[in-house]
Amino acid sequence: MAKTTTIRDLDVTGKRVLVRADFNVPLEGGKVSDDSRIAGTLPTLEYLLERGARVILMSHLGRPKGKKDPKYSLRPVASDLADKLGRPVLFLEDCRGAKVEEAVSQMQDGNVVLLENVRFYPDEEQNGEEMSKELARLADVYVNDAFGSAHRAHASTEGVTRHVDICAAGLLMEKELKFLGDHTANPDRPFVVILGGAKVSDKINVIQALLDKADTLLIGGAMAYTFALAVGRKVGGSLSEPDKVEVARAALKKAEERGVKFLLPVDNLIVDAIDFDARTVGESRLTGEGEDIPDGWEGVDIGPKTVELFRNEIAGAKTVLWNGPMGIFEIEACSKGTFAVAEAVAANEGCVSIIGGGDSVKAIKKSGYAEKVGFISTGGGASLEFLEGKTLPGVDALDTV
Ligand code: 3PG
Repeated sequence: MAKTTTIRDLDVTGKRVLVRADFNVPLEGGKVSDDSRIAGTLPTLEYLLERGARVILMSHLGRPKGKKDPKYSLRPVASDLADKLGRPVLFLEDCRGAKVEEAVSQMQDGNVVLLENVRFYPDEEQNGEEMSKELARLADVYVNDAFGSAHRAHASTEGVTRHVDICAAGLLMEKELKFLGDHTANPDRPFVVILGGAKVSDKINVIQALLDKADTLLIGGAMAYTFALAVGRKVGGSLSEPDKVEVARAALKKAEERGVKFLLPVDNLIVDAIDFDARTVGESRLTGEGEDIPDGWEGVDIGPKTVELFRNEIAGAKTVLWNGPMGIFEIEACSKGTFAVAEAVAANEGCVSIIGGGDSVKAIKKSGYAEKVGFISTGGGASLEFLEGKTLPGVDALDTV
């Protein structure tokens, strides 16, 4: 199979390298409050700068709906990035037009420029030809390091590649493809997949795809209650999708046919009320092993027997992929199961451990075990689509060697 060209395959010295990053980061009080995505792109930027490239960075931030809105300005990213790189980052107040072209033409080798939010123009999400051409005019080489946006066919991720001769992946993109792609396609076995989160409907395609690859699936989160319904259990007032019971049954059948171990929670933490705003729960108790959840109660976390069961599977794994929390980990009283899974993944030092983006990334960070796992994806929706086996337009558009 053809391999995506990466910046390692290129000579970038003295070249204008237009890098699409995913700097869609949370801001608080005008400052970046979680810099993981910026830190993730640093190896690419350092690689390019050490070789004397002129780096022009672009990204989106939030969903400003095609209009200029200071709330979504990338300016705070420029100062965060300058600190990290230890060199100035010139912030331009636009991403296209004569002024931008003029500023880029003045760049010297080793200079860094960050363009304003590409989503300040509707043509970005419409993948407009004119905008794609204007962005391409800034570049000798185009590099996509924005794995988190690679599922979008936008002007800065796809359209631009039609007008630049050399289009390559950055080092973060390369790493994401390696861990979420290669390591899950040809895993060291046993390959244990832990899936959680609220809805079966969000993850069913991922479940189907991973049933072709994994040895064991461990299911937690509210998603598990739909599976519980599918095997004839009662779930009380737990969040579930009765209309997805057939889909869940089909997944269980496929697991059986393929000899994939499919483990559902054997006990649960249940509560009679939740106040999300106050982050508190009413009365709570653990169900006994195999006990149904009574009416008037809802499941909010996996119980200790399930933790033990999952821990044993994780301890014996050679590859672990985790996507989705085991309970409402944002509320401390319901976070034990998720954090115990985080601890178990971190404790298996000999395995390839991959945290597949989204809420599980928040959970592993909150658990304090983030430093101990192998790879944490910077993608949310992109990770899921990639794990589903979909082609990502932002990757597909790059050159191959
Ligand atoms: C993300 O945060 O998942 C990416 O940056 C993509 O953002 P989007 O869902 O607004 O396209």
